[in-house]
Order: sequence, then structure tokens, then C-alpha cells
Amino acid sequence: MKKLILGLVAIGLAIGGGVAALAAGGEGPPAWAWGYTTPADPAQAPLPPAPAAPAAAPDTTTQISVPGSKFQFSPAQIAARFAPADWFPEDHPQMPEVVAHGRQSATPEVWACGFCHMPNGKGRPENADLTGLPADYIVQQLMDFKNDRRNTSDKRKTNTGLMINFTKGMTREEMEAAAHYFSSIAPTPWTKVIESDTAPKTIARGGVFLTITGKDAGTEALGNRIVETPISAEDFEVKRNPRSGFLAYVPKGSLKKGEKLVRDGATVGGKKVTACVACHGVDLRGLGPVPPLAGRSPSYIARQMYDMQHGNRTGTWSPLMAPVLSELTNDDLLVAAAYLGSLER
Ligand code: HEC
Ligand code: HEC
Repeated sequence: MKKLILGLVAIGLAIGGGVAALAAGGEGPPAWAWGYTTPADPAQAPLPPAPAAPAAAPDTTTQISVPGSKFQFSPAQIAARFAPADWFPEDHPQMPEVVAHGRQSATPEVWACGFCHMPNGKGRPENADLTGLPADYIVQQLMDFKNDRRNTSDKRKTNTGLMINFTKGMTREEMEAAAHYFSSIAPTPWTKVIESDTAPKTIARGGVFLTITGKDAGTEALGNRIVETPISAEDFEVKRNPRSGFLAYVPKGSLKKGEKLVRDGATVGGKKVTACVACHGVDLRGLGPVPPLAGRSPSYIARQMYDMQHGNRTGTWSPLMAPVLSELTNDDLLVAAAYLGSLER
């Protein structure tokens, strides 16, 4: 693995001429990738610390069900941070303790990974899909979070702060157990990318765009953004249904431009960069410890690229991305993320 990383460093150096300065990056973070409709405020204060204790337990009596599951859970069970509902145990291997329950006695406390990333690891646009990521890559990322080398460029996003805190409470054994678990799950389609001039009307809530239903429902111009939204807001918010995926509306023409950038290294503005396939694999399903990109959430992909470009993701392996990123504009991030999201996994 070390050898491969060194080989990639060589590619990076040969083509990019070093891992030094990133683009000055005059553009602010693309709000859509963070699930907001308004730009980030550069004068924002740093992330607040995570809340010490879980919020008061909600409704424990109402019984909720999901088609195809033999279980019923109350809203309190669904929102339990140390034992979230597992609707479909048959969909995934047996969860290690840290994924199923986290560790409440840790300092700081560690919530169950399955709560946000879901027991099957598919995750949501505001966090990350962990299925099929190389185990070594996952451990490296957890260490990067722990060592304050991964943060977020839009400080409104407080769940990144939570993610950082969990890694500070985790043991090495827990990191490895979680890494092997999520790595062993085969990725399957989860986000459907749709090229369109319009998108459904959405409301931005908790870092995600929820499609408006009822009398206020409708469509609006998409413009130059990606709108990623749960197929069902109820499955997403109320039930946390791990079988209900996402739709991503991307501007017409972005897939073709994205393909050129990702496969040939030609940016929207015509500059040349290293093609992404050189390191992420011809099928973009990853190569050794380099993570897969095919079929993953476009918002997540764009967010990470922006974070790396702007010094908010500076992990051990992040410099490999630097020569590529220094040339890219927000338009490039958009088309790359759209195309990558549209690929079969
Ligand atoms: C409060 C919700 C939450 C919980 C619980 C949580 N995470 Fe995360 N995780 C996030 C968010 C949010 C991100 C993405 C941060 C960003 O985009 O800035 C993330 C990102 C990650 C990534 C980076 C993925 C990549 O492709 O680089 C890994 C790995 C990860 N989480 C592992 C875990 C593990 C293991 C646990 C259990 C100990 C866990 N997470 C628990 C919210 C959570
Ligand atoms: C020289 C090798 C190299 C090239 C070329 C390259 N990458 Fe990467 N990429 C990496 C490595 C290594 C990582 C892991 C970085 C880390 O650990 O922080 C990575 C991480 C990423 C991530 C974060 C994934 C996650 O799970 O969080 C994204 C998104 C990404 N690359 C997109 C791209 C795109 C798009 C291109 C082409 C425009 C590209 N990369 C070109 C080596 C490369």
C-alpha cells in the first residue's frame, strides 16, 4: 500500500510539479454542496463544541413501520444515538459494537456510526457513504479527523464537528473494526443523477434539501447548482429508512463536461490537469487505498474537493490531490461531482 501511495506521489509530482500552493480560490464554498441556499459567511466563528448529552427522548409510543421490514420502532428508537433502529438486519453483516452502539462511556462520547451513516453504511448527502471504501483509507480518515486535519469550509455545518469529536473518543481497535465492517459492504446504487433545467422546490434543512410536498410543491429553475434530495422526505426524516435513496438534479450538459474532466483531465475552462482515472482507477471504483468515487453523493464529492482545495482537509494523503485541485474552479467541481455521481458502482 505504501508503494502505491509513493507511486501516486510520483504521478502527482511529475504532472503537477509539486504539492505546494493551492489556488487562491477567490470563490466561496458552493452553498448547494453544504445544503444551504445562502453563501457562507467568511467571518463565521469556528465550530461550536458538540452537545454534551443527547436531547430529551422524543415519542416512545407511536409505532412506525417501513415496507418490507418486519419491525416496528417508535420515533425515540429511530433517533436513539446509541442504538438506532436497524430496519433490515438482513441487508448487512453483523455490526461491530461501535457501529451498532457507539460508546457512551468514552470521552468524548462516541455515537453509533449507524445512526448517521446508517447500519448499512450508505449514508446521506450531509455525511458520507462508507460502503466499499478501502479499510486502510477509512482508518486514515478517522486519524485525520482526530488530528484536526479534516474540517469543513462552511462553519454552519456542525455535524462535521461531531464527526471530529467521535474520533477523539475512539480507540484504534474501534477504528479498525468500523473500517473493516463498512469496507466489506458492496456499494449499490443509491443516488440517481438527473440532468435537468429545473428541480423540485425544496427547503434547506439540516444540511439537506427536502422536496416540498402538498400545496406548495412545484418546480423551479435549477441554475448552476446541484440539488440533491431524498426520494422521500418522510423516509429520510421520520423513518431513517436505509432502503430509500436520493435524487440529484444536475444542470444539462454537466455530465459531458464532467466526463472530459474526469477521464481526459480537461477542465471547463480548457486547462489540462491530471485525469482523475490515473489515481482513482479507470472505472473510478478506487485503486488500492485511493477511494472510489463512482456513484457517490455529488454534494459530498464537491464538498470534499473544495475542503481539500481550501486547506480544510490536509490529511496525510491529501497532498496527492493538490496539483489537480489547484487548477479547478467551482464549475469544475460541479461537473466532476455530477459525472462521478452518475456512474455505476
Ligand atoms: C452525527 C452524525 C455522524 C456520526 C454518528 C458518525 N459520522 Fe462519520 N461523518 C459524519 C459527517 C457529517 C461526515 C462528513 C463531513 C463533511 O463532509 O465535512 C462524516 C464522514 C465520515 C468519514 C469520511 C468518509 C470519506 O469518504 O472520507 C468516515 C470514514 C466516517 N465518517 C466514519 C464514521 C465512523 C466510523 C463512525 C462511528 C464511530 C461515524 N462516522 C459516526 C457524521 C457522522
Ligand atoms: C495523483 C493522484 C490523484 C489524482 C490525479 C486525483 N486524486 Fe482524488 N484522491 C487521491 C487520494 C490519494 C485521495 C485521498 C486523499 C485524503 O486521504 O485526504 C483522494 C481523494 C479524493 C476525494 C475524496 C473522497 C472521499 O471519500 O472523501 C475526491 C472527491 C477526489 N479525490 C476527487 C478527485 C477528482 C474529481 C479528480 C480529478 C479531477 C481526482 N480526485 C484526481 C488521489 C488522486
